[in-house]
Amino acid sequence: MALDRNPVPNDLSAFWMPFTANRQFKKAPRMFVGASGMYYKTADGREVLDGTAGLWCCNAGHCRPKITEAIQKQAAELDYAPAFQMGHPKAFELASAVRDMAPEGMEHVFFTNSGSESVETALKIAIAYHRARGEGSRTRLIGRERGYHGVNFGGISVGGIVNNRKMFGTLLAGVDHLPHTHLPENAFTRGQPEHGAHLAEDLERIVALHGAETVAAVIVEPMAGSTGVLMPPKGYLERLREICTKHGILLIFDEVITGFGRLGSAFAADHFDVMPDMMTTAKGLTNGVIPMGAVLTTPAIHDAFMQGPEHLIELFHGYTYSGNPIASAAGLATLETYREEGLFENAASLAPYWEDALHSLKDLPHVIDIRNMGLIGAVELEPIAGEPTKRAFTAFLNAYDKNLLIRTTGDIIALSPPLMIDKAQIDELFGKLSDVLKALD
Ligand SMILES: Cc1ncc(COP(=O)(O)O)c(C=O)c1O
Repeated sequence: MALDRNPVPNDLSAFWMPFTANRQFKKAPRMFVGASGMYYKTADGREVLDGTAGLWCCNAGHCRPKITEAIQKQAAELDYAPAFQMGHPKAFELASAVRDMAPEGMEHVFFTNSGSESVETALKIAIAYHRARGEGSRTRLIGRERGYHGVNFGGISVGGIVNNRKMFGTLLAGVDHLPHTHLPENAFTRGQPEHGAHLAEDLERIVALHGAETVAAVIVEPMAGSTGVLMPPKGYLERLREICTKHGILLIFDEVITGFGRLGSAFAADHFDVMPDMMTTAKGLTNGVIPMGAVLTTPAIHDAFMQGPEHLIELFHGYTYSGNPIASAAGLATLETYREEGLFENAASLAPYWEDALHSLKDLPHVIDIRNMGLIGAVELEPIAGEPTKRAFTAFLNAYDKNLLIRTTGDIIALSPPLMIDKAQIDELFGKLSDVLKALD
């Protein structure tokens, strides 16, 4: 029987959509049926400017030929190879390419299938690393309020977004949270805010409370994206690094959003010149095209496991699809595209233009803060009294009607376009957004 190729299915009930207002969506579906470069195409034939790189992941833009061809070729050549006790060349090539792009000192790469899995992997490696070195009492994990580290149990335990945690029981034991870094005195700061480095000192309080010998790792997003784009205050990450080093605690940067060019450098660790012990990545690794994540570690962490008889598995962890051939091919083609097209450089050179365009929205109705760095930006709106999130969600729906894709979280509009954007498209984006904001109740 011929497949029904109608781009708009007539039954939406079976698919329980993730992080979506399902009932609202199914009454007025918003369907993308195609994409190219900076634009999506909707089922009703419109071209929508992608202001969010999909979900912060399509850094090279959409349907890029090199990536598409690599996937097609790989699918025909070697579709799958067992991830455990067997290898295939492209996973090794990609691990080397990621290492070469990463800050010096990040030398080993463990593949996962998503940002959430990268976080679980890094947290497990942290605890197991201390145990392998004979410090098995180091099991506590420290995250941060408003942190987003995916949706699995480890990630929501160290994460600090209340709605992502409160429905799901007691979570992991032995977790503490640093205070978030959102300070009202930093409103409308361009780039890194002046105030707030002192918030890192809370780590000393938590360490003193439990004893350093019980703490395995601190995990933070160097720039917090999903909570609504919070920049690290000047000196804050440096201070976290110092305190972690002083107490033998591993510092994990969750670079799932900041990795692969978002801030104009390959990674936020380069951008802020602060080196963690591990980095979690996903999203831009394959341009969002095929699910894949990676955890990067220092040799000190990796080598702590490479002990004992050589026939034994060193780390009892991994996924059926770790380093999957098609994902690896997509990753290699993605990194080549970034390099060949100078996309990180494009992000860095357009950042001042982006910043000016974003901050031109300052005096529009309901705007209470604007934040930016690299090709990322946030516009925070005053919530409607008694109806939090509604104002921003209305802006999202109205922007879509005007052929612009934005993302909202709470009452914050987050913007993170593909790094291939140009000045005319930045003007288009902020022209449309400005019209949306002016018309908001
Ligand atoms: C910092 C960070 N960590 C982890 C994740 C989870 O990634 P995924 O949705 O691929 O599981 C995200 C997703 O937005 C993220 O921003």
